[in-house]
Order: sequence, then C-alpha cells, then structure tokens
Amino acid sequence: MSAAFELRGLTAAVPGEKRAIRLVEDVSLSVHAGETLAVVGESGSGKTVTFTSSLGLLPKPGRVIAGEALLEGVDLLKLRPEELRRTRGARIGMVFQDPLTGLNPVFRVSEQITEVLRAHLPISRSAARDRAVELLTRVQIPEAARRVDDYPHQFSGGMRQRVLTAMAIALGPRVLIADEPTTALDVTVQAQMLDLLGDLRDADGMAMVLITHDLGVVARQADRVAVMYAGRIVETGTVAEVFAAPRHPYTISLFRSIPDIEAPTGTRLTPIAGSPPDPARRPEGCAFAPRCFAVSDAAGCRSVRPLLAGVGHAASCHRQSMLETTA
Ligand SMILES: Nc1ncnc2c1ncn2[C@@H]1O[C@H](COP(=O)(O)OP(=O)(O)O)[C@@H](O)[C@H]1O
Ligand SMILES: [Mg+2]
Repeated sequence: MSAAFELRGLTAAVPGEKRAIRLVEDVSLSVHAGETLAVVGESGSGKTVTFTSSLGLLPKPGRVIAGEALLEGVDLLKLRPEELRRTRGARIGMVFQDPLTGLNPVFRVSEQITEVLRAHLPISRSAARDRAVELLTRVQIPEAARRVDDYPHQFSGGMRQRVLTAMAIALGPRVLIADEPTTALDVTVQAQMLDLLGDLRDADGMAMVLITHDLGVVARQADRVAVMYAGRIVETGTVAEVFAAPRHPYTISLFRSIPDIEAPTGTRLTPIAGSPPDPARRPEGCAFAPRCFAVSDAAGCRSVRPLLAGVGHAASCHRQSMLETTA
C-alpha cells in the first residue's frame, strides 16, 4: 500500500551570501494511514521547515530546491498554487504549537469553523454551524452547543488547541500534522490532548505526523520515529527498535539524558553539550562530529558525510558498527 504522505529527498533552502543555505537536506520519510510517525530532535534541527516547505508554506525567499512531497501519491510541489491551497485545506490537517496564532481573536469560533467548511463544501450556513458543534463535540469540548459562539479568548489554552484540532479535521484530512501540539500546554492537559489526537487518528484512519522534542510522547504515541539533526534525518526506525538500540550517537546522547525509557510525558530532552550548527556553517563530513562522543578522524567523521543506509532501522553514522560491538 502506498503511503498517505511521503517525502523523497526533500531539500529546502534560503538564499545565502555566496550560495543557497540548505535548511533541510535530502529528507525522506513516509507515514501510512492509521500510523503515527514522530519527528524528534533539538530545537533548530529542521522539523518545522521539513513540513512547512513540503506543504508550500515556507516563507519566501525560502524554497524547495529538490525532492517530492507526495500526498497519496500526488506531488504537492508540482501543483498550481490554487490547487495546492485547496488540497492543503481539505486533505491535510495541521495543528501548531501555539493555539492562538491559528485563531482569529475577533471572530467567534463558530464563524471560524463554518468558514473552513464553507470554503470547501457546498453547505448552508446553518448546516455548517451544526457541523461546527459536532466537531467541537468530537474534540471533547464540554457544552459544545453553547461554547461554539464564544470567542477564542474565552477558551483555555488546552481548549483552544482542541478548537484548532476541530478545524484541522473538519474536512476529513488523510494526514494530520501536529507540530509540537502540546508544548504550550501544562502537563496534565498535554496527555489529554495527545490521547485525543490518537483517538481521532484511529477513528478516521488518518496518518499522523507528530513533531515533538519530548521522548515520553514518542514512546507513548508513535509507531515509528525519525530523528533529525542539522536539517537531516540521522536515524529512523520503529519506536521499539530505536528505543531498544539507538544507533546514531546523537540519538544515544538524547536517550542518555533520560533516566528511563518509560519517562513520563513532559520529559524534555536535556541539552547535549555544545549546540547544533548554524545552517550556513555546517561542518564538513558529519554535522554532529563536533559534539560526538564517538568521533573518529580515521573513520572519516570530519571529512565524509555519512548517509542514511538501509531500509527499516537505519542511521547515518560511520561509527555505528563500532558502537554496536562495544555496546
Ligand atoms: N524562513 C527561514 N529563513 C531562514 N532560516 C530559517 C527559516 N525558518 C527556519 N530557519 C532556520 O532553519 C533551521 C531549522 O528550523 P526549524 O525547522 O524551525 O527547526 P525545529 O522546528 O526543529 O526547531 C534553523 O536553523 C532555523 O533558524
Ligand atoms: Mg519547530
């Protein structure tokens, strides 16, 4: 079966002084209906740019310079702007970190949801309003019929995120992309929000991409994981594979900072010594080499870029066979 959403060799860049600065490079991933792919990595690793650029939402002068972004086999990057806008609105749901940026403070929630519906469906205002109440009920907003005419500021942060989720699923998308959907929420509300997303995914058979820097969230919610560093995927596999035996020193370092795999939701990645490179000044060879505990000049870490080898569980590291034998 073909993937619901798939990226092939996606590379996006902004103009630099001498040459283009690649924000994300050669990113390939896929997610199937009913499945959750977690995309994890420190801040600045390229998680958001991967998805904004693949949906034609990277602000100018940024642009995709190579690769494909396939929604059920159709390359979004080849669509005309109007077609892309319609496809994005109807078939891809997006939920972002800050629930306020997605809502207009001056319009009632009912108006914002009915606008989404009526932009794509031939339905009356009153039918759209009924549908808005149904959607708010689906995202478990209590007393939806009464709350539907409230303004965004009358909802708590967690409830606003539910409103945005209702808008994201309003047209029955095949893919739901949630970019750090719980980061702005407090810990008890986070778990409820994640459960809701999982329930919606199961009920509608959506494919879900969950962007997070919370390994507890990955362990609980995802089937597969892609670890990003400096604009590239450095390790990918099932959550079971990657948690049981991480292969890339970056992934290993991320896990080292966590006391136990069953870390509670809310466990953040504690920083690894040093910081990720500026996209304009990425080192030759492996971008993680300056921070890596296993770096080796003899292995070519500072001169040859390692590639993500293999299907299934894969990591881009010159030293992985050495790490496995000493583990
Ligand atoms: N519009 C842009 N123009 C220039 N650089 C950008 C732009 N958006 C993001 N970046 C840079 O691209 C890199 C990846 O950013 P981002 O995808 O937001 O990271 P993440 O979501 O993993 O925290 C960062 O170095 C960031 O500063
Ligand atoms: Mg981001």
